Amino acid sequence: MTTLGTPLSPSATKVMLLGSGELGKEVLIALQRLGVETIAVDRYDNAPGQQVAHHARTITMSDPAQLKALIEAERPHLVVPEIEAIATPMLQELEAAGTVRVIPTARAARLTMDREGIRRLAAETLGLATSPYRFCDSLQELQSAIDDGIGYPCIVKPVMSSSGKGQSKIDGPADVQKAWDYAMAGGRVGPGRVIVEGFIDFDYEITLLTVRALDASGQVETQFCEPIGHVQVSGDYVESWQPCRMTPEALKAAQHIARTVTEDLGGQGLFGVELFVKGDQVWFSEVSPRPHDTGMVTMITQWQNEFELHARAILGLPVSTALKSPGASAVIYGGVEAQGIAFDGVDEALRVPQTELRLFGKPESFSKRRMGVALAFDADVEKARTQAKLAASKVKPRSA
Ligand SMILES: Nc1ncnc2c1ncn2[C@@H]1O[C@H](COP(=O)(O)OP(=O)(O)O)[C@@H](O)[C@H]1O
Ligand SMILES: [Mg+2]
Repeated sequence: MTTLGTPLSPSATKVMLLGSGELGKEVLIALQRLGVETIAVDRYDNAPGQQVAHHARTITMSDPAQLKALIEAERPHLVVPEIEAIATPMLQELEAAGTVRVIPTARAARLTMDREGIRRLAAETLGLATSPYRFCDSLQELQSAIDDGIGYPCIVKPVMSSSGKGQSKIDGPADVQKAWDYAMAGGRVGPGRVIVEGFIDFDYEITLLTVRALDASGQVETQFCEPIGHVQVSGDYVESWQPCRMTPEALKAAQHIARTVTEDLGGQGLFGVELFVKGDQVWFSEVSPRPHDTGMVTMITQWQNEFELHARAILGLPVSTALKSPGASAVIYGGVEAQGIAFDGVDEALRVPQTELRLFGKPESFSKRRMGVALAFDADVEKARTQAKLAASKVKPRSA
């Protein structure tokens, strides 16, 4: 039986989000609707999620001492990582000591913060199909990994990075030095280690949102959302749609991979499993043990969007992954480098039929920073993609 309390009272059910960007904001809203007391943590003040939570805290989440002090002071029932750059060994310590429960598990947070942990688990322990890969600590090692079998083209990524930062494609020997230097500049913690992956010439790529939630008998049950197709530019998502049409064989292979990796990571919650597909063949790419950016489309396509699914699953509540309508999302970038920007054309965007907007409220804009998203639904998913992109294009960010 799940019992929830009253926020700001001694009975409160308290949840702490580590990371309070646009994805955390929606998880917080879902929790707020269930009367959960929320604590939004980020590295800067007025982060999107901090604007909708009961409490806002600003700390360096990669600093174990700061993280420990905050968790011990707030004593949340659940700690929900929203980003990768967290002192996850400290989360493991606190979880082992029984101080707190980490979503989905502290081990999952630790394994997925580093490309090496999750890739070795998926490929070497679980035997899932992935791109060929090697880990390298120097330019020389990178060159020999390529020469010894990875070959060209290939992709280099810092092991600690996200959203395409420091990631580049190598088409031939002339690009190797450049890719190494770019990775060194783009990693989260330097001086770094990289993964070099053989390039998979996929037909399309998907995110398979996978939920581990309790059934009526209290057992964890795995459920899948309809596959989400997406387009990435420079390692960052620009549009997504759901459902993504797949062959039954490819869907079955995708679900098998997603089930295998999420069962190993364990715990309760929603996972974003990224997969490459060519014909009936499917490769595991990576997994987020939390809502996924391409899954923002579910705010218009599912009865319970990915944030509600996550909130319900972590609280031990039942979930439904049913589709409401096909639909699409298109990203709105800042385009300008400024604080407190203005958005022109919001009315025109919303005049595009069957659309919705989310403006995240980020205090500072960069040219390539995701500041909002346009959503569209339509029985025809291709029409929804066109409409979402049209609505996104009507929103014109500018410095105020
Ligand atoms: N081995 C690969 N072959 C082909 N494309 C790749 C490969 N690795 C990454 N990509 C492309 O780059 C995107 C971002 O890579 P990913 O590993 O997901 O990095 P991030 O953690 O920054 O999201 C992928 O969604 C895919 O489009
Ligand atoms: Mg990715």
